[in-house]
Amino acid sequence: MDIVIIGAGAMGGLFGALLAPWARVTLCTTNTEHAAIISRQGLTLTSMKGTICRQRVRIVVDPDPEAIAADLVLVCTKARATATAARTALSVLRTNGLVLTLQNGLGNLERIASVVGTSKATAGITSQAATLVAPGHIRHAGDGPTRLAAGPGQSERVEAVAALFNRAGIATTVSDDVDSLLWSKLMVNVGINGLAALLRVPNGTLARVPECGQLMVQAVEEAVAVARALGIDLPYEEQVDRVRQVCVQTAENRASMLQDILKGKATEIDVINGAIVARGEEAGVATPVNLLITQLIKALEATVDQRIRGDGDGNHVHAPVQRNHFGGRTFFQENPCNRKN
Ligand code: PAF
Repeated sequence: MDIVIIGAGAMGGLFGALLAPWARVTLCTTNTEHAAIISRQGLTLTSMKGTICRQRVRIVVDPDPEAIAADLVLVCTKARATATAARTALSVLRTNGLVLTLQNGLGNLERIASVVGTSKATAGITSQAATLVAPGHIRHAGDGPTRLAAGPGQSERVEAVAALFNRAGIATTVSDDVDSLLWSKLMVNVGINGLAALLRVPNGTLARVPECGQLMVQAVEEAVAVARALGIDLPYEEQVDRVRQVCVQTAENRASMLQDILKGKATEIDVINGAIVARGEEAGVATPVNLLITQLIKALEATVDQRIRGDGDGNHVHAPVQRNHFGGRTFFQENPCNRKN
């Protein structure tokens, strides 16, 4: 199978590294330094056990439709890049190909389907976790089930993708209820991402500290009320327990939205807590906690150049904004290899 993965960050890189021994994989990235390192020396993957391996994989910055054809396009970009990713997907997709989004939040599938056609677009969710520790280097941070949705007429293609994922060690099942899949992952992101970014804490803290836990419960309960009003069939009885469980399983993880905030980048708030507010308005369900989380994250994004941080002695300093490897702004150039998580 020829696979093109658009977005070679943590998740795209992880899927690329795991699938490359089993399929012809091409990664697409906008990060030229990341691309240069991977082309030169392969993609470095630190496994969950801490072993390090290098995987040879093709990586391109400008995918050339004359040179690349895909049976499967995996979209692993942030939501802000979905429209561009969809156009790239269309340019490389074979006639009977499939575009699969593994992105967070709501709206990505619809955006992709509007470009490539409904019959060629589907979505999945994954509990795999990964961190981009440095250009060319991904750390596999968590293992968990992956679920793919098969829409009408897609079963054969989606089953073939699931079989390949399973061969590559990515435990995968198929479902026919795409809304149920996407909303079950949405609950996790609604409970974790915005709060982790606002409080600047790893996921585990949200479940451990009661003051954080209360906010998490309120955000998730609002999202459950919206889902019920819209007739979405949620797979777990107790959504709040499920979100707490994910916090524990990914206790050391920095949620993707926290990573965006630390890099001074725009977040996915509009497709997560913001999506609950929008769908709540449609369904006539009040969502004040999700609205406040959305507004606070947007205020954080808008004040990125003016952040003040403590210097450890009770004094406060304006943090210099620097360009980082990823083209975003950051307040401190930490060495990710020194991170505890
Ligand atoms: O976006 C993320 O960071 C992840 O989806 C999750 C599950 C919240 C773990 O950090």
